[in-house]
Amino acid sequence: MATPLTPQNLPLETQTLAVQLKDHSYQIYIGPDLLSCLPSFLEQRHLQASRYVIVTDSTVETLYGSNLQDQLEDRGIKAELVSFPAGEASKNMETILYLAKELLRIGADRKTMLLALGGGVTGDITGFLASIYMRGIPFIQLPTTLLAQVDSSIGGKTGVDLPEGKNLLGTFYQPKLVLADINTLSTLLEQELKNGLAEVIKYAVIRSSRLFRILEQQWDEVLALKSDVITTIVAMSCAIKADIVEQDEKEAGLRRVLNFGHTAGHAIEAAADYTISHGEAVSMGMVVAARIAFKRQQMVFEEFSRFVRLLEKVGLPYVIPSRFTPQQLLTIMKHDKKVQDGELHYVLNKGIGDCEVTVVPEEEILTTLEECTGSLSYNF
Ligand SMILES: NC(=O)c1ccc[n+]([C@@H]2O[C@H](COP(=O)([O-])OP(=O)(O)OC[C@H]3O[C@@H](n4cnc5c(N)ncnc54)[C@H](O)[C@@H]3O)[C@@H](O)[C@H]2O)c1
Repeated sequence: MATPLTPQNLPLETQTLAVQLKDHSYQIYIGPDLLSCLPSFLEQRHLQASRYVIVTDSTVETLYGSNLQDQLEDRGIKAELVSFPAGEASKNMETILYLAKELLRIGADRKTMLLALGGGVTGDITGFLASIYMRGIPFIQLPTTLLAQVDSSIGGKTGVDLPEGKNLLGTFYQPKLVLADINTLSTLLEQELKNGLAEVIKYAVIRSSRLFRILEQQWDEVLALKSDVITTIVAMSCAIKADIVEQDEKEAGLRRVLNFGHTAGHAIEAAADYTISHGEAVSMGMVVAARIAFKRQQMVFEEFSRFVRLLEKVGLPYVIPSRFTPQQLLTIMKHDKKVQDGELHYVLNKGIGDCEVTVVPEEEILTTLEECTGSLSYNF
């Protein structure tokens, strides 16, 4: 007998929001201990399936996957588990083909639902697989990294990498539900936490001075993963992403603001041959954008210094290593998809909490990259 899931039997502190899209709206739940509520969610009519398949990576399988499978089986819910080696290197067509064959072997049909349990790699792979397996089967996002909880599990972008570049094959395919259990963040490596925090800071700078203040003022609680504060910052980040996705599901325009810090960030990541983490590269990229904004008098000095101080507190870098030359980074940026008709479209913040997409001349970018590179230190 299905237990109706009401806010009363969800863990205290759980926050809920909806992503309202034309044909495929869905709910996001954020809070502690939500994975243990999954059986109750699945017993609701619109999420029922003939069987469920947990798709996860090797690390998350050990940490949470097997346990989740047992919990589902204990409630009489048929659940299989398939996994692949953890890491970005698995985000390719070989993994998709391997998983598709595993699904066939298990007997997964069009009434099967996939459960993407893991970080952004798992979410992107599972969403892509769900979108093409037997012309599309439903899936649920169960993000376990901060980056996946605040970013990749929402918005329906799925895909895999090619040797020629990241995310070159993919689809837009929305999940039926997102359950972000913030307890899973306690096992994350510090580096992975920082990757997510860089995105949270991005949301704050482009859309929410309130979120920025929470990060500044409750930093110790964030660092200690205090559940009410983490739930709040994840929920605020999700709300910002959901709002942007609702207005621009397929990235026709507005969604580009989510690239704040990513123009120079991607160039730094690529120049470093991905030996610099995504969060660190985005952090340096955000400083480049903020510095342009500051020099254009779109951001006062006090805001710029608060921004750099927050990055410093988090332990995210704000200076580009001198082994990269501005010209080298600019060349990579120009090959990136943010170039339209030969002009570089850049997301610049306006103070803290607002932003715009605008053309920035090459000269201005080169000078700013120069200023942000090397042994620069800010004395506030
Ligand atoms: N679809 C989108 O809109 C979107 C947006 C941003 C990023 N992405 C993609 O997301 C990927 C990066 O996501 P990610 O940083 O989550 O990477 P990831 O999925 O590789 O996870 C990072 C590492 O953390 C481990 N891990 C996951 N959960 C854990 C937990 N709770 N405790 C301990 N370890 C855990 C994983 O096994 C992995 O080793 C990239 O491929 C990127 O392209 C997609």
